[in-house]
Amino acid sequence: MDLHLKNHTVVITGGASGIGLAVAKLFTEEGSLVHIWDLRKPDEGDFSFELVDITDHQNVVSATEKVMSDSGRIDHFVHAAAIGSRKYGFPFDNLAPDDWREVLNVNIMGMTNVAHALAPIMRQQNSGTMTYLASVAGQIGSQTDPPYSASKAANINFAQCLAKDLAPYKVRVNSVCPGMIQTPLNKSVWQAWNDLQPVEFKQTYLEWANTKIENTIPLKSWQTPEDIANMIVILSSDRAQQVTGQTINVDGGFVMHW
Ligand SMILES: NC(=O)c1ccc[n+]([C@@H]2O[C@H](COP(=O)([O-])OP(=O)(O)OC[C@H]3O[C@@H](n4cnc5c(N)ncnc54)[C@H](O)[C@@H]3O)[C@@H](O)[C@H]2O)c1
Repeated sequence: MDLHLKNHTVVITGGASGIGLAVAKLFTEEGSLVHIWDLRKPDEGDFSFELVDITDHQNVVSATEKVMSDSGRIDHFVHAAAIGSRKYGFPFDNLAPDDWREVLNVNIMGMTNVAHALAPIMRQQNSGTMTYLASVAGQIGSQTDPPYSASKAANINFAQCLAKDLAPYKVRVNSVCPGMIQTPLNKSVWQAWNDLQPVEFKQTYLEWANTKIENTIPLKSWQTPEDIANMIVILSSDRAQQVTGQTINVDGGFVMHW
């Protein structure tokens, strides 16, 4: 299936690792020109890279100007940069209010900074797609890391606002929600839990994850970064030209309503 993405310009935040990196590779396979914005360079792949901290609006504006001067347009944007609190937040007052600040700054203000920089360009082009990596945690009030869950709900909500704002300019905006993917972020959730367990309750990362998958995911398997990348690349293509404002779960059936 030709997705007609050849020579399209793509910006991916958080593209140095995990899901963002898989998205970068798949767009490259389709012949697109990928710009990764991240705090560190990817260890693999031949992408255009810019050191960008999405919490710094000026940094984001400068990176946007650089892509525009190199490529003259931005066809697709994928927002994968995010963090968790790296603490076990169950019950919620296991965390202090200060534990929320960094997560909200990266996951909400980061999303806002990039949208402010990119939306005017896509509006002017009268074309473009934006895809936000949110999470099933943003839909079900996951108790593991409340600031993370709340920030992911904000991603979904803001993507809907953007979809409505930008629809008259033929710019489509959607959220994709992964379930369980082996990445540094996912492992940090286990680590925070495991650090607090008494010796007799400690589990390896895979024991912890496999129990969770067995109990909560109907298809009973991990999702891979490539599973998520497939959905995002198809959503970005004209094959999904009537899809906007949607929250699409790629989660083995974990969430079946929203
Ligand atoms: N892994 C999962 O199980 C899972 C589940 C649901 C949702 N998600 C979502 O998928 C997305 C990607 O997560 P992942 O698991 O691939 O994580 P990851 O930790 O592998 O990658 C996140 C990337 O974001 C970058 N980043 C963090 N803060 C940044 C900042 N201030 N500026 C620029 N870049 C920054 C990191 O350097 C890293 O390269 C996130 O939005 C996450 O919430 C992941």
